[in-house]
Amino acid sequence: MAGSQYQQLVFALLLVVLLLCCRRSAGYREQHKDRVAFLPGQPRSPPVSQFSGYITVNERNGRALFYWFFEAQASPAQKPLLLWLNGGPGCSSVGYGAASELGPLRVTRYGAGLEFNKFAWNREANLLFLESSVGVGFSYTNTSSDLTKLNDAFVAEDAYNFLVNWFKRFPQYKDRTFYISGESYAGHYVPQLAELVYDKNKDKTNMYINIKGFMVGNPLTDDYYDSKGLAEYAWSHSVVSDEIYERIKKVCNFKVSNWTDDCDKVMSIVFGQYHEIDIYNIYAPRCNLPQSAAAPSVDQVLATNNQDHFRRRIRMLSGYDACYSSYAEKYFNRADVQIAFHANLSGALPRKWQVCSDSILRSYNFSVLSILPIYTKLIKAGLKVWLYSGDADGRVPVIGSRYCVEALGLATKTQWQPWYLNKQVAGRFVEYQGMTMVTIRGAGHLVPLNKPDEGFALVDAFLLGKRLPTRR
Ligand SMILES: *[C@@H]1O[C@H](CO)[C@@H](O)[C@H](O)[C@H]1NC(C)=O
Ligand SMILES: *[C@@H]1O[C@H](CO)[C@@H](O)[C@H](O)[C@H]1NC(C)=O
Ligand SMILES: *[C@@H]1O[C@H](CO)[C@@H](O)[C@H](O)[C@H]1NC(C)=O
Ligand SMILES: *[C@@H]1O[C@H](CO)[C@@H](O)[C@H](O)[C@H]1NC(C)=O
Repeated sequence: MAGSQYQQLVFALLLVVLLLCCRRSAGYREQHKDRVAFLPGQPRSPPVSQFSGYITVNERNGRALFYWFFEAQASPAQKPLLLWLNGGPGCSSVGYGAASELGPLRVTRYGAGLEFNKFAWNREANLLFLESSVGVGFSYTNTSSDLTKLNDAFVAEDAYNFLVNWFKRFPQYKDRTFYISGESYAGHYVPQLAELVYDKNKDKTNMYINIKGFMVGNPLTDDYYDSKGLAEYAWSHSVVSDEIYERIKKVCNFKVSNWTDDCDKVMSIVFGQYHEIDIYNIYAPRCNLPQSAAAPSVDQVLATNNQDHFRRRIRMLSGYDACYSSYAEKYFNRADVQIAFHANLSGALPRKWQVCSDSILRSYNFSVLSILPIYTKLIKAGLKVWLYSGDADGRVPVIGSRYCVEALGLATKTQWQPWYLNKQVAGRFVEYQGMTMVTIRGAGHLVPLNKPDEGFALVDAFLLGKRLPTRR
């Protein structure tokens, strides 16, 4: 009869809808478990759509990486996906990138809570922070011998597996335009991961990841040029004498990774001088809290009732706070924070959460000396490549990065010229055939921390393909 046929049709349609929705829901169900409702000390407004949790990257050895993800502040479905990596090796992208630099929620003074960052990069992108490698932050391995095997290839492989499995959990982002960015030693991680994604994409049996480019800040790129740049920068910024600089030129051959004893000796004088200031931001005050016991020492400062003195000292010069990393350590070691964050499940991680892990840094196998061949390959492949540099950084100084970029031998499209923000010169930039180099005037190693407004203008131009403003 017509009635029962109609019922059958409705029933069949319902079945189809149900099947479609349940096929979709495996990833979505997992993803909802990762949603972070509210973090301790988070401001009530504006609302922040955030997720965090673990992604298994190697089942056999039990390796899992921890991530913190923020959807774009408006129209996330229309915005690209941007992965951010910090360096070290051994430093946390949650502690630095997300909570101190470019994330929408930054840890406040003394680790008391969080504040909204109006220059957050998730104004223009869905923003993913990854604690890489295992042994960093909340990321872990159940096979401790993994920690002695870390090198660039190992880290890239795990990060790639992370991406594939993260996209399975967040299928709505799988075909999204994808970029990678990061700073410092991520000058290795970022291009290497981009290359791995690019290579894996060629094999149709792998998940296709829609990578379009990368951007790195004060990136370690080539040992020779970066070391030469470090020495020249120290001399040209009056950190060391003419005599020391002449000795460096005489006894150091930065072309070999193995420095001679004489070179070690004279370079240790350079680093000795940099120890007196903040090598990462040479005109800023350095954090005088004892580094090894950073978090407890914040307690001490609070207890001594000398807050004003403390604040004045660290506030000198701009809004830069040299003690930010100790605030992050205080915040992320709180049990209530870890629970809200889905981190350190059932308290299984024996160590403390650290913004940088010394033991990872010490055991890391530095086997790659230059990333420049990857630049050449990926520029040829048509990826968008930007390198930016805070020009007050003594550790990976702008001079070395200029040597690196010049060594690529790309044709110049537009000459070195200033760019502007708020009617001031914000830095300079030069466009090559295939890549762009940008400086940020007066910023140190952590550009989005030191110059948040300029940092946002930069990522905005990168993502939207806009020209940096060339007029006041
Ligand atoms: C690591 O071991 C713990 C305890 O056995 C287990 O709960 C966890 O799932 C393991 N992690 C991975 C990634 O396999
Ligand atoms: C590094 O230095 C050691 C000791 O001076 C030497 O034996 C070795 O050959 C050097 N290696 C390279 C690659 O220069
Ligand atoms: C994990 O939790 C335990 C128990 O609260 C704590 O002792 C440990 O420091 C935590 N690990 C990390 C990495 O925060
Ligand atoms: C360091 O990594 C390189 C390149 O993968 C490898 O050949 C070498 O054996 C490693 N060294 C150690 C000590 O693990």
